[in-house]
Amino acid sequence: MKGIILAGGAGTRLHPSTLVVSKQLLPVYDKPMIYYPLAVLMLAGITNIEIISTPYDLPRFRMLLGDGSSLGLCLTYAEQDKPRGLADVLLVSERHIGDDPVALILGDNIFHGPDFVDMLRRNSRDVDGCVLFGYPVRNPEQYGVVDVDADGNILGLIEKPEKPRSNLAVTGLYFYHNDAVAIAKDLKPSARGELEITDLNRVFLEQGRAHLIQLGRGFVWLDTGTHDALIEAGQYVEILERRQGVRIACIEEIALRMGFIDSESCHRLGRRLAKSPYGQYVMDVAAAF
Ligand code: DAU
Repeated sequence: MKGIILAGGAGTRLHPSTLVVSKQLLPVYDKPMIYYPLAVLMLAGITNIEIISTPYDLPRFRMLLGDGSSLGLCLTYAEQDKPRGLADVLLVSERHIGDDPVALILGDNIFHGPDFVDMLRRNSRDVDGCVLFGYPVRNPEQYGVVDVDADGNILGLIEKPEKPRSNLAVTGLYFYHNDAVAIAKDLKPSARGELEITDLNRVFLEQGRAHLIQLGRGFVWLDTGTHDALIEAGQYVEILERRQGVRIACIEEIALRMGFIDSESCHRLGRRLAKSPYGQYVMDVAAAF
């Protein structure tokens, strides 16, 4: 399965912080935001990943993550010159996807919770259609919303409805069969001029090929689109990391534990950051492995 991280957009709700730096490069506590979605794809076992951003921001992502080989990954980069919508990235990334299924994750979404790794592995296997992840929120009208029956089957999908029929938001992680590329090609731009991911998902729903996994209580899904949301996400990560002494979305540790790199390579990655507690942690993890 191929992976795509969507890290474009103008980040206007975070101005002036994002006037000269991409939102997905801002720190969430101790690491750049993009580490969190990258960690999710790595935990799903995906090593071939394309990062999509604006022509202006893309060079900085490349400087940060390079070709990924030091993490045992193959990272490529592609430009989305205008924010034409989330479904548009399947077209931008068509060559990278090739004939494979694909996992798409938004660069500003943070996921953390029990059994997440198992859930990712189980649901990224043999994807027929699309797999969506639903999460109950207090403000569903700000998201794509999924309406379900008593057995959890999807009844409808609506983008930012004025009167949501459920409180289940569709999170920014999507697993797709390769057919998603052909479907994206046939989509028409919405009233706001974008190729909507919800329209794409609705095609799979009409074909009886849309599956929903509900992320339950105790699971954390955070988006980071406003200054308040950003600081809350940072506080969540800080509390957890300080209390437990482990780090969330430490991509060097994940690469080691997933078997993408050996402990020597991991130690080397930590040494480059040795003056920070993050770098120390990476070296400690490598030494104890
Ligand atoms: O966060 C989950 C939600 O993400 C879903 O519930 C919605 O169904 C989905 O449409 C999306 O809603 P948002 O309003 O959050 O989408 P937004 O336009 O803010 O884009 C999400 C991220 O993707 C944002 O960091 C910018 C980036 N982006 C967005 C567009 C439209 C791009 O890189 N390129 C784009 O063309």
